[in-house]
Amino acid sequence: MSGRKRVGVLVSGRGSNLQALIDAAKDPAYPAEIVLVISNVPGVQGLARADQAHIATRVVNHKDFASRPDFESVLEAALHEARVELLCNAGFMRLLTEGFVTRWLNRHLNIHPSLLPAFKGLHTHARVLEAGAKISGCTVHFVRAAMDDGPIVAQAAVPVESGDTEEILADRVLAAEHRLYPHALRLVAAGKVRVEGEHVVGMPQQNGQSALFSPPLPATF
Ligand code: GRF
Repeated sequence: MSGRKRVGVLVSGRGSNLQALIDAAKDPAYPAEIVLVISNVPGVQGLARADQAHIATRVVNHKDFASRPDFESVLEAALHEARVELLCNAGFMRLLTEGFVTRWLNRHLNIHPSLLPAFKGLHTHARVLEAGAKISGCTVHFVRAAMDDGPIVAQAAVPVESGDTEEILADRVLAAEHRLYPHALRLVAAGKVRVEGEHVVGMPQQNGQSALFSPPLPATF
């Protein structure tokens, strides 16, 4: 398929969501291709996954830079060199400056392991259990300067079961993430959604329905 969107993925670690995107993009009909993976941490599994899939990688170690803008200018140079059109954070553990976020506005996605706007930030699953929530899940959203903030593209819900530990809940949510992220990137790359007043709305499809109303995951609560 010609006209696939060129996607860059930012990682800091394991890269299992990156793997889900790589696997989805193996289908030539998928509207995006992963052309570059950048890690801010050397030697992580995400880089090995990209190598394995013959995708170009870069390490841009934030520790090598005196300031956030210096770090980001090298990051952006690599993205431009690879002609990246859409950017996906996949377990990327750095906050980006407002300038960077503005330059990639509505072309930059993040995945977070909760049903946003609930449980932003770190230690999500521990806090979900602590709160006694009965449903958790994951969210793909466009990036804004505030952490885990921005227009929501897609969400998936999973039950919180009695007896869940942090690890068990994390695994259940992660399985949903691996289905949700390829779905959300497909919607964005295929131009099936747009941001209107900080909400994501579906572009009308030929059948008159919105692409957003056919989620791939049943809500299992
Ligand atoms: C995922 O749970 C993601 O939602 C969060 O960090 C984790 C990254 O996992 N932002 P992986 O690196 O994709 O395996």
